Amino acid sequence: MDHDQLIDLTRRALKLARDKSTDLAAGVHMVDAADYTSTERHERDRALLMASPQLVGYVSELPRPGAYCTKTVMGRAVLLSRTSDGSVKAFDNVCLHRQSQVVTGCGTAKRFTCPYHAWTYDNTGRLVAVPGREGFPDVALRSDGLTELPAAEYAGFLWVALQPGATLDVAAHLGPLADELDSWGIGRWSPLGEKVLDSPINWKLAVDTFSENYHFATVHRDTFATIARSNCTAFDSYGPHHRLVFPLNTILDLDDVPEERWDPFHNLVVIYALFPNIVLSVTVANGELFRIYPGDRPGRSITVHQNSTPLDLSDESVAAGAQAVFEYAHATVRDEDYRLVEALQANLESGARDHLLFGRNEPGLQHRHLSWATAIAG
Ligand code: FES
Ligand SMILES: [Fe+2]
Repeated sequence: MDHDQLIDLTRRALKLARDKSTDLAAGVHMVDAADYTSTERHERDRALLMASPQLVGYVSELPRPGAYCTKTVMGRAVLLSRTSDGSVKAFDNVCLHRQSQVVTGCGTAKRFTCPYHAWTYDNTGRLVAVPGREGFPDVALRSDGLTELPAAEYAGFLWVALQPGATLDVAAHLGPLADELDSWGIGRWSPLGEKVLDSPINWKLAVDTFSENYHFATVHRDTFATIARSNCTAFDSYGPHHRLVFPLNTILDLDDVPEERWDPFHNLVVIYALFPNIVLSVTVANGELFRIYPGDRPGRSITVHQNSTPLDLSDESVAAGAQAVFEYAHATVRDEDYRLVEALQANLESGARDHLLFGRNEPGLQHRHLSWATAIAG
């Protein structure tokens, strides 16, 4: 984000904080409880995600030619590699023989040897060696290979399409938000790993917990609310995506500082809601990524939480500090947000009430649900 834009946003956020106000939607909005519980909606949601470009990680997870990383996306095992020409490729991480995962974790390798019977693939996915070759007369070395998925690096992130042969147009998907996302650089910061939450909540309920800060004073009273304001958000939408700016408590100190001396990014958290299932949380020190997937039933979801840092992790104490911050953020989401909404999911499934109410002060929540509903109707 350029400096002028950041100053503008800071001015907006400061005014909201000073006025004890928040950006408001035009009206309240209601959604059906069944959106979170019905099998039919769940199948439509799954189809929506399968058809959408999927942000799966930071470009810094593939730092140089020969690097690879593995991901689980919508329950599918995906292998990404940076080939010798520097381009990114993605494959189903599924062996041609009996479907073992060919590789796990991340690292650097020219070849991947399946742990089961040692069929071997190069990092462009081609099958290059089969022990006991006479057992497989129809297998063709160098022309057979892993199933390739469309892949791209864009705006600092790794993207895949989950359907082989699909078009992956991330530029069209992100529209005008692409440059802004890229400008933070969080996708090029050092990755700190992945933490997974397998939760008894609908995937949209998981996303909802990131869509407003109205709950900070209550749910996060002793954690986030000690540094960030509650029920105070600047909201902007970009097609199906949106951005929330959460002011920190320190923003009020700017009242006494001339604008040209502002260090604006020390007073904000910026949250991006990328359609349909991605949350990015950007601060001066952390580039958090939440990839949220529907599970095998409406009341189950998988959240993959990642974080990146601009700090130099070659210093051991710095690296330990960065991990501690990541663990703190993760524990807060797990023990405060997700724990609370587990009982909410149970209420939805009980049928006690047939709808939920989204306030005017929850424009991000309204926007997420309207974007999903529009896509599903289309
Ligand atoms: S399943 Fe991979 S070599 Fe047999
Ligand atoms: Fe929260």
